[in-house]
Amino acid sequence: MNLTQKYGKTALIAGASECIGAAFATYLAASGMDMILIARRPEPLQELADALMKKYEVSATCISCDLSDPDAAQNLLNNLKDIEINLFVYNAALPYIGAFENSTTEYNGKMAATNMVTPMHLVHALGKCMLEKGKGAVILMASLAGFQGSGYLSVYAATKAFNRIFAESLWYEWKDCGIDVLACCAGATATPGFINTHPEKTSLFAPKVQTPEAVVEECFQQLGKSASFVTGSGNKLASFIMQRLMPRKLAITIMGDTTKKMYRL
Ligand SMILES: NC(=O)c1ccc[n+]([C@@H]2O[C@H](COP(=O)([O-])OP(=O)(O)OC[C@H]3O[C@@H](n4cnc5c(N)ncnc54)[C@H](OP(=O)(O)O)[C@@H]3O)[C@@H](O)[C@H]2O)c1
Repeated sequence: MNLTQKYGKTALIAGASECIGAAFATYLAASGMDMILIARRPEPLQELADALMKKYEVSATCISCDLSDPDAAQNLLNNLKDIEINLFVYNAALPYIGAFENSTTEYNGKMAATNMVTPMHLVHALGKCMLEKGKGAVILMASLAGFQGSGYLSVYAATKAFNRIFAESLWYEWKDCGIDVLACCAGATATPGFINTHPEKTSLFAPKVQTPEAVVEECFQQLGKSASFVTGSGNKLASFIMQRLMPRKLAITIMGDTTKKMYRL
């Protein structure tokens, strides 16, 4: 698919500085898209932008901001008011692994803001502009954790369920308006976010950890074809068994037990 012909020339990637976000930026730069890259830390973001501009004939502008800030979406929209965004990827997310009662109200609020509220406001504003143009694309990162109750990931998993349901709903509303919306439901992916949690392998049959590049490649194969999808064949099989063949209580128990074992909780 020629992305610039189908959607336009400019992409916005929130959570772009490393791994899945950087893989999105690299894929889009290789497709000839100019881009605006967002993350908190300016240095890795600028390094990536410089490398992409050097390798591909595209422009890459960096905006350093904290997407958990209550004004983040409005400040970004003010910053972007003269730029037409044709493809929007929301990849940033705050994780939390552990007992719910040990989390803090402040961090839970930041998770809800980063993972749900800010993307909701951005999709609302950017989607309206795409609808006026009659073309555009929105990709939201979701997770296998959001398919059922996921003990010790409770708030994170619930925010990821939000991302999937939100994207699927908009896929339906906008499918005949030229806007492709997709939720990418990833399983374990080799990112610092995942590796820094020092997960233990739980069984020989656990789905293989994917590379960020494989996740992104599959995302663009699915964009325009699906409302949501599960990445990788191992994850697809695990998800099929857990969602379609198992009683829900068993699926929730397996998920909680696996997380407990993985993180020695
Ligand atoms: N890794 C996995 O195994 C896995 C599995 C399923 C789903 N996912 C989903 O895939 C996405 C990416 O995961 P990841 O593991 O690659 O995450 P990550 O390594 O933590 O990277 C997330 C990106 O978002 C930025 N970011 C995080 N919080 C931010 C904030 N408050 N404001 C602005 N930027 C922020 C980070 O840069 P800064 O730190 O500089 O801000 C980074 O560029 C997430 O939506 C996650 O839920 C990941």
